[in-house]
Amino acid sequence: MLKQVNWVYSDTLKDHFMNPRNILETDDTSGFDGVGMEGNLACGDQMMVAITVNAEKEVITDCKWKTYGCASAIASTSVLSEMVKGMTLEAAFDLSPKDVTAELGGLPENKIHCSVLGDKALRAAINNYFERNNMPERVRKEKAKIVCQCMNVTDHEIEDAVLEGARSYAELQEHTKIGTVCGQCRFESEALLEKYIHLHFTE
Ligand code: FES
Repeated sequence: MLKQVNWVYSDTLKDHFMNPRNILETDDTSGFDGVGMEGNLACGDQMMVAITVNAEKEVITDCKWKTYGCASAIASTSVLSEMVKGMTLEAAFDLSPKDVTAELGGLPENKIHCSVLGDKALRAAINNYFERNNMPERVRKEKAKIVCQCMNVTDHEIEDAVLEGARSYAELQEHTKIGTVCGQCRFESEALLEKYIHLHFTE
């Protein structure tokens, strides 16, 4: 039986897609305090986020962005750029795609991974701010852990597969080829599959 997919786009999403806020109109980011880039132009989903920061309060005062991504990436980054203005760097770093999706009034499940792009680029911009300002101890980089040694699959790839729609071990295998050699990684990969489904899709 076909899986039912929710294709309904909220009015907020449509509004942000039609009238995206805070677009970076130039390639010159020299006036910004932190710049982050995520994605891959070859895949058509590159994202750049640039922030201005009140150094004393560590608060984001402006957030601009630019993308070659799809409607969902545009709308979610537009919303994100509004949400983070006035937020501390730490609070903005901890925003999750789920927070952005909620603010958008929902997103079709198979489009959630597009909303992750702006979020990742924002975190890269915040890290870039800390790097530029000589605070390497404040930089938070998520290190990927290899879960499947045979196929060289990491926990980040499992998370991406979940965001792209994998909900069962078989679907995870379709996306990543995990566990297709010795099978020793199955227990850990199933636990991570559950963890990421819970993290991104359970209310
Ligand atoms: S460790 Fe994953 S298949 Fe061998």
